This record gives sequence, C-alpha cells and structure tokens, in this order.
Amino acid sequence: MPTNKREITLRFLAQPTDANFGGNVHGGSAMKWLDQAGYACATAWSGRYCVTAFVGNINFLNPISVGHLVELNAQVIYTGKTSMYIAVDLLSGDTKGSKLSKAMHCIMVFVAVDEGGHSVEVPSWTPTSDADIRMEKYALKLIELRKTNKEGLDEILS
Ligand SMILES: CC(C)(COP(=O)(O)OP(=O)(O)OC[C@H]1O[C@@H](n2cnc3c(N)ncnc32)[C@H](O)[C@@H]1OP(=O)(O)O)[C@@H](O)C(=O)NCCC(=O)NCCS
Repeated sequence: MPTNKREITLRFLAQPTDANFGGNVHGGSAMKWLDQAGYACATAWSGRYCVTAFVGNINFLNPISVGHLVELNAQVIYTGKTSMYIAVDLLSGDTKGSKLSKAMHCIMVFVAVDEGGHSVEVPSWTPTSDADIRMEKYALKLIELRKTNKEGLDEILS
C-alpha cells in the first residue's frame, strides 16, 4: 500500500570514509546521498519500487566537512503518469552550531516500476500552497528546458 508520504528527511554524520583528497566530502558520496533520499521519497509516495530516470540541476553550493551533520530533504514536487519529480536539498553544518547551510540541490526524476521493470502509474500530487505551486512550476520549466536541450543536442550528435 502506498503511504503517499510526500516528504522525507535523512540525517547522519559525514564519515572520514566519505572524504576526498582535499579532506572534504567526496562529490560522488554526496550524489549517492541525494539519490538515496530521492529514492526513499519516491518509493514512499508511490508504494512501489522506483528507478532513477534523470538527475538534473545538481548544484554544489558549499563544501561538506567530514564530521558535520548532513541533512537531506526530499519532496515530491510534480507527478506525471508514472514519473515523480523530486526536489532534494542537502544541508550541512557543525553539530555544535545551530545552523545548517545548503550545500547541494538537485531535481531527480524517478519512475515507479513493476517486477518486470515496466513503468506503472503513481498517485498524482496536486499542489495547493503558493510554495508548492512554485515548485510545480519549477518542475514544468525543467521539463520544457529538457525538451529544448534534447532537441538541440540530438541535432549536434546526429
Ligand atoms: C526509466 C525507465 C523505467 C523508463 O522506461 P520507458 O520504457 O522509457 O517508459 P516510458 O517511456 O513509459 O516512460 C515512463 C516515464 O518516465 C519518464 N521518463 C523516461 N525517461 C526520462 C528521462 N530521461 N527524464 C525524465 N523523464 C523520463 C517518461 O516521461 C514517463 O513519464 P510519465 O509516465 O509520467 O509521462 C527505463 O528507461 C529504465 O529502466 N531506465 C533505467 C533506470 C535505471 O537503471 N536507473 C538507475 C538505477 S535505479
């Protein structure tokens, strides 16, 4: 049964094993965390196993220090027939401080699939608050931009 839970938060400490050669968290580790938060959110919303179809707009805004608290906030911002657009923010900060700063942001598209890997319908999300309507607009703009970019890039690669 789908829980239709729209938002999810994950919290943990960045480990020494997550460090890159510069001593901060490796970009690849951070991207894996974004994917895990997006996956948890998509499966909670749909009640289905989901696969990542697209990741876009990844922004590395600030370095993440080893030993700092990492918080991932993922929320469904738009649903298609079988796809879900999930906005994921990664915040981090010293556990001794009171404030977390935004370190990363991205948009992920997950598709709910059945046992055979075929896409299946997901419950639809209808935004009502101003903030949620703004996020839906953001997703729709990304869909439009992706189409335009794809056409332009396909032309170059063909
Ligand atoms: C994602 C996947 C299931 C889509 O399968 P498909 O046969 O192309 O299915 P469809 O064409 O019916 O598309 C299903 C949905 O995915 C969306 N979609 C597919 N590729 C997409 C992409 N690159 N970006 C955004 N949305 C995409 C479609 O728009 C459609 O959305 P809708 O039903 O809400 O309108 C399939 O391509 C796949 O299994 N890819 C590999 C996934 C994977 O291995 N991920 C990494 C590990 S989890």
